[in-house]
Amino acid sequence: MPKKVRKAVFPVGGMGTRFLPATKALPKEMLPIVDQPLIQYAVDEARAAGIEEFIFVTGRGKSAIEDHFDHSYELNDLLSARGKTDVVDSLTSSILQAGQVSYTRQQEPLGLGHAVWCARHLVGDEPFAILLADDFVRAETPCLGQMIDAFEATGGNVVAVMDVPKEQTNRYGILDPGEEDGRLVEIKGLVEKPEPAAAPSTLSIIGRYILMPDVFTHLGRKERGAGGEIQLTDAMAKMIGQMPFHGFRFDGVRYDCGDKLGFLDATLAVALDRPDLADGLRGLMQAYQD
Ligand code: UTP
Repeated sequence: MPKKVRKAVFPVGGMGTRFLPATKALPKEMLPIVDQPLIQYAVDEARAAGIEEFIFVTGRGKSAIEDHFDHSYELNDLLSARGKTDVVDSLTSSILQAGQVSYTRQQEPLGLGHAVWCARHLVGDEPFAILLADDFVRAETPCLGQMIDAFEATGGNVVAVMDVPKEQTNRYGILDPGEEDGRLVEIKGLVEKPEPAAAPSTLSIIGRYILMPDVFTHLGRKERGAGGEIQLTDAMAKMIGQMPFHGFRFDGVRYDCGDKLGFLDATLAVALDRPDLADGLRGLMQAYQD
């Protein structure tokens, strides 16, 4: 039996250039989908999947994330004094407990692979999850929970995958797929951001991973890949053939919230599912069409 997945890494050290100037002083992961920041959705997904330790790899200007998951006694006192106990309860349920959370800094944004490597001592020698908060996934069973079930069945590495339009392969890590078994796809090869003509498939990795700690050895070589960055995909590719390695076609809808249209799409999807907002929003949308 493989070891249990207890720890999740949240790389939040990116610069978020596509959302400037909003992300000049505000971390991209704090942008709200309706009234909850992106990072809160990712943490809730991990919590629902049974994750016990939450590791954030932060960077300059990201302290709002630490504050978000901490108690705010002043705010709670103020809200309680005004009788808003339901809001206090919802704030309390979103915080992470003492000792459950740790933060480390990626001093320079050298790429996603480098961000993950920065968490090596906090992860130690056990399988772990990685969640990219800007990949927002809506699913009946949380995406990471589905992946943990798959990991418990297969062992090795499991990454969430979905088909993307052919012309978009140069935005993702793309699979060279082997045999398929239900939602599982054996991985024979991985290429980071191939041009459509060179892409081995359209099956792309999205921001949910369960990896064996061996990945840190490969990341530690600090080899630069696409865009001059230390790429997680390149380190993962080195593990093919060394252990089971599967793509997992998750059940759910993924929104690329690092992109403005994807972010708006997610906002509409969440708001249209909210009883307090759906009718009002439909009315607004109708008015724009008229
Ligand atoms: P992106 O490729 O979306 O980069 O990173 P970005 O800097 O966040 O945003 P843009 O492209 O400039 O608008 C994918 C994920 O990897 C993390 C990001 O925080 C995001 O969750 N990341 C990226 C790091 O933690 N460190 C890095 O050096 C690069």
